[in-house]
Amino acid sequence: MTLRALPGKKIHIEPFRIEILKMREPQTRKAVPNMRKTLIAANWKMYKTPDEAVAFTKAFIPLIAGHKHAEIVLCPSPTMLPTVVDAVRNNPIHVGAQTMHWLDQGAYTGETSPLMLKAIGVTHVLIGHSERRQYFNETDESVNLKLKSAFAHGLIPIVCVGEQLAEREANQTAEVLERQTSIALEGIDPATAQSLVIAYEPVWAIGTGRTATPEIAADAHKIIRAQIAKSLSPALAASTRILYGGSVKAENTASLCCLEDIDGALVGGASLDAASFGQIVINSAA
Ligand code: 13P
Repeated sequence: MTLRALPGKKIHIEPFRIEILKMREPQTRKAVPNMRKTLIAANWKMYKTPDEAVAFTKAFIPLIAGHKHAEIVLCPSPTMLPTVVDAVRNNPIHVGAQTMHWLDQGAYTGETSPLMLKAIGVTHVLIGHSERRQYFNETDESVNLKLKSAFAHGLIPIVCVGEQLAEREANQTAEVLERQTSIALEGIDPATAQSLVIAYEPVWAIGTGRTATPEIAADAHKIIRAQIAKSLSPALAASTRILYGGSVKAENTASLCCLEDIDGALVGGASLDAASFGQIVINSAA
């Protein structure tokens, strides 16, 4: 089944004036369930107190009961990781950190190590979120070190990549995604990278209410998947989950998650409310 495509048509996406002068192949919907289990992750950023987090889980758990199609991950701030691990115990919900250091221990004030995360039951970790890159000097090189460390410690890494608006407008999207992905994967042994997850988060779509169209997202995912094939192997490229992030909400989840190359979502603002995030999980089964 194919989505409606407009071959050769000029599409304006306001307010960015992003022009797709020539649509490539129509984006294909998922034909059969593939080996890549849908992953829906909540990035709570610097929001919620522990009490609010517990109230969220109480409201959220019944909403997703019976929805086994997706791996669900909550990523709260470090202060409430243990609280959330406790609150979701015995439920099909995982807990992820929003960042970590790559070393096991050391004199790095304010940092959290992978050993510490593992010790409290954290299973996933976001690496290289654009806000970490923009405000906290995260670089492609530190992303690479953190990714190696996550694999070494058995944490499931969700590596964030994505272009800025100016880069998209300058036609540099492919170059940026290839650079971020290839440096992140440099020196990684494909045999250790089975759990790799990448999140494509175009910076211009984060917190702006401006979602990438399914076509833009699917195109970017193809570029990232091709780079994984080059950097690791074609088999890993086929099995690696690539999520979309940037103004995902219940209303646009189905149109994004149904596409062949999109394996789930990394959700910011719309993950703070249990009903809204529950609906995103449900709609991702489309
Ligand atoms: P929003 O969903 O609020 O746009 O945030 C996306 C994001 O940064 C998730 O990591």
